[in-house]
Amino acid sequence: MKFFLDTANIEEIKKANALGLLDGVTTNPTLIAKEGRPQEEVLREICRLVKGPVSAEVIGVAAEEMIDEGRKLAAIAENIVVKIPSTLEGLKAIRALKAEGIRTNMTLVFSLSQAILGAKVGADFLSPFVGRLDDVSQRGMDLIRDIMQTIRNYNFSSQVIVASIRNPLHIVEAALIGVPIVTVPYHVFDQLMKHPLTEKGIERFIEDWKKIPK
Ligand code: G3P
Repeated sequence: MKFFLDTANIEEIKKANALGLLDGVTTNPTLIAKEGRPQEEVLREICRLVKGPVSAEVIGVAAEEMIDEGRKLAAIAENIVVKIPSTLEGLKAIRALKAEGIRTNMTLVFSLSQAILGAKVGADFLSPFVGRLDDVSQRGMDLIRDIMQTIRNYNFSSQVIVASIRNPLHIVEAALIGVPIVTVPYHVFDQLMKHPLTEKGIERFIEDWKKIPK
């Protein structure tokens, strides 16, 4: 199970990296905007720190615009993966970039039919947004189960990234389904090892240790 961090924040990336738990990073325009610096500058810095895939998103809506942006993003570093939205124009861009050897991550996936088309044109990664589906009363993890089943049925090469994660349960469920990658916001990453009984247990052991005659 690979852990990507869903952030463009260098400090968060450094903290996860220091634990040896970071397999990649995903960004989007919202996350880049939070950093208040030019996208290219932020991406260069992230790619210096992280050897795994670093997703960077295009803004264009027409395939030609996406292809042009995708080429520029891919030129920043060899581990850049170009994030392309799930539209028909996006499918054209994925195909074209793939033909040039540029890896793509089809993003904003909200249905199985979108995922099938992305897998058919050869997107390297598919990013279904579970949290945003939960937000509209549709079970995000049900979509993940369906996409994983379809990928297995047809032996598609696309790798699923569970995106828009809101809590540790999304990650636990992803693990049980066998999803290869989750992209985790730092605040959720931070929750994964926390358990009140562990904290309480440590405190108790420290207190009891003091009672042992030395
Ligand atoms: O990076 C894409 C996705 O993870 C965004 O998540 O929290 O904005 O729905 P969120």
